[in-house]
Formats: sequence, structure tokens, C-alpha cells
Amino acid sequence: MSQLNEKLAVVMQQALDEAKTNMGGENASYIPFLASVPSELTGLAFVSVTGEIIQLQDANYKFAIESISKIMTLGLVLEQSGADALHTKVGAEPTGMPFNSVLALELHQGKPLTPLVNAGAMATVSLVKATDKEQRWQQILNFQSLLANSDIVLSDEVNQSEQTTNTHNRAIALLLESSGRMYSEPLEACDVYTRQCSTLFNAVDLATVGATLANGGKNPCSGKQLIQTQNIPHILAEMAMEGLYDTSGDWAYDVGLPGKSGVGGGLLTVIPNIGALAAFSPRLDPFGNSIRGQQMIKHVTQAMAWNLF
Ligand code: DON
Repeated sequence: MSQLNEKLAVVMQQALDEAKTNMGGENASYIPFLASVPSELTGLAFVSVTGEIIQLQDANYKFAIESISKIMTLGLVLEQSGADALHTKVGAEPTGMPFNSVLALELHQGKPLTPLVNAGAMATVSLVKATDKEQRWQQILNFQSLLANSDIVLSDEVNQSEQTTNTHNRAIALLLESSGRMYSEPLEACDVYTRQCSTLFNAVDLATVGATLANGGKNPCSGKQLIQTQNIPHILAEMAMEGLYDTSGDWAYDVGLPGKSGVGGGLLTVIPNIGALAAFSPRLDPFGNSIRGQQMIKHVTQAMAWNLF
């Protein structure tokens, strides 16, 4: 292990030990499965752009990826259709509102503004080039596996739990259709979006996704170029503006790095040209971001002086 990574491993352990005592927040409850995950699980992983891995405590626990899937499908659509098409059809502005806000849509003539809120993510799914729903889904799942360098699988349990409770997202899909911002059959797009949220990753898988973004789109573990280097800044910009929803500004102010959270408790942070940190812990703040995850990543990135600004 390099000297830098030896120091990093020590700092990561300190961050984890400190965060473990934080009892703030609660699991997501609007998706029944997520409410049942043990709240005290805490994992932290780092993958460098050279493929070195550091993993601590529950870094091997498989959790539902949820909203972090949005950055992967964004990458796929950027590859298939290019940055201009995505920008015109979905947008690139922070909403400043919750991830499932209908008001944000209504205020902008039904344009989702960003692929990282639920509306924009479903529109992005609908842009994946495919002949039918199953082919669209297989492409998304395959791309998740390539980015994680791991066989990513759908959890039937999580998917079932989400598909039977996602009426709000189905309503958003229909609103998108009504404003001409849905590019496949709307409820099919909602179904595939719900599946992409219901796959299981551990913190090492997730940090590998981030390390691919940190490494100009080339997965440092498999050596495969998965996203063209020219598309990476678009993904990182979206993450910086909207990755933690209505607290993205606070995250930029405190951490100064692109991040992405999921209500399953995952939190990814990309340190360009260095690597990525992935945290997992199910207790969330009111905005849907892991509390211990934010605490650990803040601690490590401050100690390592990784703030980009
Ligand atoms: O669509 C939803 O509401 C969930 N499947 C994902 C939301 C989510 O992860 C928001 N993130 N922090």
C-alpha cells in the first residue's frame, strides 16, 4: 500500500469509529424493505484510480443502491445520445427541492431540470435506446455491473417492496408524459427506474463506480473504458449540483466534491484523479442522505485536504 493510502486507511478508521456513535436520523420508511435494514450497519470503502482498495467494517454488506443508480443511467445515456441531447431533453439545473417534488416540475413547464431527481431519472431511463422494456432494463443492469466490476443483481424483495408502493413516482411519470418529456411508455419507464433502484451494491462496488468516474471513465479494476472521458465532467457537474438534493449546496460548501446519495443509505463521493469514497449506513437526514455517511466522508476528505475549491 502506498504511503498516502496508509495514512488514508488510518483516517478512514478514525472517521468510522467516530460516526458509529451517531444515533441521529432514521432508515427510510416510505419503502417498507428499507425500514427493515439494521440501522447500525456502517461501512466505508475507498477505491483509487490505480485500483487499490481499502474497506472497513460493513463495506461488504449489500444494500439497495436507490438514487445512486441515477448517475449510472445518466452515463449510459450520455454514451448513447450525447451531452447535448440529454441537456435539451432533461436539463442540467439543480431544483433546490426534494427528490420527488411535483412542484419542481410544475414550476418549469414539466421539464425535470436534472437527471438526478426522480422525474429526470425516469426521463433518462426512457432515453436508453432499446426496442422494448426488458432490453432497456438489461442494458441498465449490465452497465451497473460493468461500472462496479461485479455481478450486480436485482433484489426481488426490494423491487417488490418498491413496485407496490411507488404510486407517487407513477404519477410523476404520467406528468412527464403530459408535458412531452417522457420518451418511452411512461409506466414502463417508471417500472425500469424502480428496478434500477432495487439492485444491490456493497461499498466496494460503489467506490469502484466512483473510481471509474475519477479515472476519466476507465474502470481501474477491469481496465475497461466504460464512459468517454469527455462525458465525465457532465456527470460530476450534475453530482455537484444535485447529488444530495436540497442539501447539495451545503455539501459543496463543506466538502467541495461531487457526491451522490441514495435512500438505501449509500453515499458516493468522487475525488477526481485520486479515487472515490463510498459510505453505507441506513440512518438518513430529512433530505434522504445517510447521516453517518456524510459524517465519515466529511471527516476523511477534510483530513486529506481533497476539497476541489
Ligand atoms: O424513487 C425513489 O423514491 C427511490 N427508489 C429512490 C430515492 C432516493 O434514493 C433518493 N435519495 N436520496
